[in-house]
Amino acid sequence: MKQISVIGLGYVGLTTATCFADLGNTVVGVDIDERKVSGLLQGKLPIYEPGLEEMVRRNVAAGRLQFTTDFDRAVGQSEFVFIAVGTPSGADGEADLRYVRAAAEQIAHSLKGPAIIINKSTVPIGTGDLVTTIIRRTNPHAQFAVVSNPEFLREGSAIADFMNPDRVVLGAEDHEAAQRVAELHKPLAAPVIITDTRTAEMIKYASNAFLATRISFINEIAVICDELGADVKEVARGMGLDKRIGSAFLDAGVGYGGSCFPKDVQALAHMAAIHGRHPQLLHAVMEINRSQRRLVVLRLRDILGTLDGKTIALLGLSFKPQTDDTREAPALEIAHLLHLEGAKLRVFDPLSMDLARPHLPPDTVYAHDPYDAATGADALVVVTEWNEFKQLDLHQLKAVMGRPVIIDGRNIYDPREMRREGFIYYGIGRGRPRVPHDPNGLVAAGALGL
Ligand code: UGA
Repeated sequence: MKQISVIGLGYVGLTTATCFADLGNTVVGVDIDERKVSGLLQGKLPIYEPGLEEMVRRNVAAGRLQFTTDFDRAVGQSEFVFIAVGTPSGADGEADLRYVRAAAEQIAHSLKGPAIIINKSTVPIGTGDLVTTIIRRTNPHAQFAVVSNPEFLREGSAIADFMNPDRVVLGAEDHEAAQRVAELHKPLAAPVIITDTRTAEMIKYASNAFLATRISFINEIAVICDELGADVKEVARGMGLDKRIGSAFLDAGVGYGGSCFPKDVQALAHMAAIHGRHPQLLHAVMEINRSQRRLVVLRLRDILGTLDGKTIALLGLSFKPQTDDTREAPALEIAHLLHLEGAKLRVFDPLSMDLARPHLPPDTVYAHDPYDAATGADALVVVTEWNEFKQLDLHQLKAVMGRPVIIDGRNIYDPREMRREGFIYYGIGRGRPRVPHDPNGLVAAGALGL
């Protein structure tokens, strides 16, 4: 049993604190946000993460997990202090380090005995050194070592990812400190890789950038598949069975979103640029990702002609299923592009309607289920692949829609079945929609089988 404190109770910090408590350690979670802390003390979570609420309550009840706004109380007693604060994007795409700096200063003031400071926030290469400098400057008598320990948790499966990691990466100049942090992770029985601090920080950026690159790669292939009549889903399956390639992160669609990939690819490109490098691949990855959102609008125009006055239903607002997070969600950008063209929106998401509302056009209609969203719509776009969208009653759907047009932005349906059911169907990279030529740019209801 170790004494641990975790600074920052976002999804990374809260998951880390709770999982370490569950492994039998005594953990204090610290956040400057009093409402967040008082909510947690009453068992209310600031985020949605499957399984986490139950785990928090269980560990609080067992006395292993506490929450506070009081740094001294938390940090003063700890052998291990995790920094898990946010690193939002700055004006130029760089990571904004103000919360990391503030956390380092607070830790320096609160340290009583020797401690290992472990940085979990995704931070620019060199931030480990910065944290060391800040603590030393603020409290010259502090006895500490800084270890970089990037996180690889996915929203929606954060507990499973924490408990069964593919690897634990530790970066430090003080090898003994890194070994002690490795010891802390021993119950996870995962391979541990110990490097210098900068290398560990880079492993995080390179991993996220590589996964984002795979997504943009398959999206580029998808666009070519459309033109050449191949099916990208089968192409990805055929590629993925090659062990050197693997099948993960090869799902073509409307592109990646969330609080990590967009921010991290941009921050890495920024770091390269300020050192005089031109990271061409990273720029292409970002550009392809944006084009995937525009592709939805282009395809809708192919099918419906002008979008002015048309009603479009969007299914899914969160950036991926199993989360209510709408940060950088493709749905928000698609909604704005459609709004700019004069379309009216009807939207549905099982979890994230409230979080999305402030970011959507004012006249958006919030439906209570997928059929309600589809009612009277000229087209329906699947933006997030929630399970409950996978088995919709196609007869009912077709009956309520104004026109039977489906843009399947996550390739969750079988194109043949959809066409058999009488839909004008467009998946991503599964062939262009077959729309009869319409010289007026407006597809007549008759051509759509109405
Ligand atoms: C990602 C990484 O997967 C985690 O390892 C990392 O710890 C985390 O960022 C982070 O840096 O904190 P997350 O953002 O939760 O996790 O979500 P992912 O499951 O990776 O998905 C990211 C986006 O890519 C989603 O919008 C998803 O729809 C999209 N995606 C994913 C695709 O478009 N195609 C795919 O094949 C896979």
